[in-house]
Amino acid sequence: MSQRVLTGITTTGTPHLGNYVGAIRPAIAASREPGVESFFFLADYHALIKCDDPDRIERSRLEIAATWLAAGLDTSRVTFYRQSDIPEITELNWLLTCVTAKGQMNRAHAYKATVDAAVAAGEEPDANVTMGLYCYPILMAADILLFNAHRVPVGRDQVQHIEMARDVAQRFNHLFGRGKDLFVLPQAEIEESVATLPGLDGRKMSKSYDNTVPLFEGGAKALKDAIARIVTDSKLPGEPKDPEGAHLVTIHDAFADAATRAAFHADLRSGLGWGDAKQRVVQLIEAHVGPMRDRYADLVAHPERIEDILQEGARKARTTATPLLAELRQAVGLRRMVAASQPRTAKEAGAEKSAVPVFKQYREADNLFYFKLTAADGSLLLQSQGFAEGREAGGWVKRFKTEGAAALADAPVTLGEGTDRVAVDAALTALVAAQA
Ligand code: TYM
Repeated sequence: MSQRVLTGITTTGTPHLGNYVGAIRPAIAASREPGVESFFFLADYHALIKCDDPDRIERSRLEIAATWLAAGLDTSRVTFYRQSDIPEITELNWLLTCVTAKGQMNRAHAYKATVDAAVAAGEEPDANVTMGLYCYPILMAADILLFNAHRVPVGRDQVQHIEMARDVAQRFNHLFGRGKDLFVLPQAEIEESVATLPGLDGRKMSKSYDNTVPLFEGGAKALKDAIARIVTDSKLPGEPKDPEGAHLVTIHDAFADAATRAAFHADLRSGLGWGDAKQRVVQLIEAHVGPMRDRYADLVAHPERIEDILQEGARKARTTATPLLAELRQAVGLRRMVAASQPRTAKEAGAEKSAVPVFKQYREADNLFYFKLTAADGSLLLQSQGFAEGREAGGWVKRFKTEGAAALADAPVTLGEGTDRVAVDAALTALVAAQA
C-alpha cells in the first residue's frame, strides 16, 4: 500500500504562520512525494468544541480552505474535504469511544489545562468541560484511523493526540482484528525546527492566546503590523544581541535558508537593531507568502469554487471511508441479521479454527522443554527459553491461553525474528477469544 499522509486544521480562526509552517507547508511537501496518497481536511466538527459563534466558524472554514489551495495544494493528487461532510467519521468516533479508557482521556493536555484554569479561578474543576472537549482526542483518532494514515504532519502540540490515536487503534485491532490489523498505527511527523512557532509574546503562536501573525488576512500591512509587535529585549542598535532564544529569530528562521539564517544571526551578534531586524523578517516572509496572497484573495472572493472542490473531495474521501467502515461494523458484530443467524458449516468452523495461532510444546536434544507460538501461516511469533521440567512449559502455555498478552509481562520468551509486538498481542487476543 502507498504511504498515506493526513492532517487537519480546526476552523475556529484565521490561519497563522504557525499553522503554515507546522502543518500546511510540510503536508503539501509530503503530498508531492512519489507513492504518497494525501488526505487534508477542515476540522469543523472539532471547531464546534471550541467555538459557539456560527459566523466565525463559517468564515474560518472559507479562510482555511482558501489558504490550503493558495499554498499550492494540488486537488488532483490530494483528497481535500470537510470533516462534517464525512458521516463515517462520526460513526467511527462512536466505535472508538466504546473502546477508549476514560483514564486515558483524563490525561489529555487540553482537558487538563481547562481543569487547571477552572481550579485556579476558584471554580469547579469541570466547570468549563463539555463532553466534546473531553472526548476531543477520540474524534481526532477517528479522523486519522478512518483513512489508515501512516504519517500525520503536525506541530508539537498535537503529538499527544496522535499517540492516543495509536493506542486506540492498537486496542481496537486487538479486540476485533482476529489477527488482522484493521487500523494502521499512525506516526506524528514533526519538523523539529518549527515544531512550536512562537507568537508575538513568545508563547506558542495560537488562536487561543491571541498572539498570532496572520498568514494572508489583512494583507501585507497586517503582516508588517503584527511583526512590529513581536516582543524583543531592550538592547539598542549597536549592542550585540543573542539570536538564541529570541522568538523573532525563530520566526525568521522558519522561512529562511541556511545561508540567510547564518547572516541574520551574525548581524544580530554585531549589533543589528531590532527595528531593522523586523524589517528583514517582514521582507523575507512577504517574499514567501506575497505571491500566494493574490490567489488567496481570489479564492475567498469565490466561495462557490471552493464549495465545488470540497464536495468533490468529500465524494473521493467517502470512497475510501465507506468500505473500511463496513468492515469495521462487521468486525464489531453489527452484521446483517441473515448472516448472523446462519449456522456455521463444519468447513467454516474448521477454517476459522485453523486461522488461530497455535502453541507447540516440545523437547530438544539439550533435554530441555520448550514451547513456541506460531501464526496460522506458520511464522514464528514467540519462542520460549528451555525449561528443566515439561510442566513449567505447560504452565506458561496455560497462562497465555487464559491471560493472553498480559502474560507477556513476565514470560521467559522472545519474539520471533521480524515479528512485532502488535502482531503477537493480536494473535494472543485471537487465541483467548477462540478458547472462550
Ligand atoms: P490546530 O487547528 O490547532 O492547528 C493546525 C495545525 O497547525 C499546527 N500549529 C502549529 N505548529 C507550529 N507552531 C505553532 N505555533 C502552531 N500552532 C498550530 C498544529 O500543530 C496543527 O498541526 N486537533 C487539531 C486539528 C485536527 C487534526 C486531526 C490534525 C483534527 N483532526 C487529525 C491532524 C490529524 C488542531 O486543533 O489543530
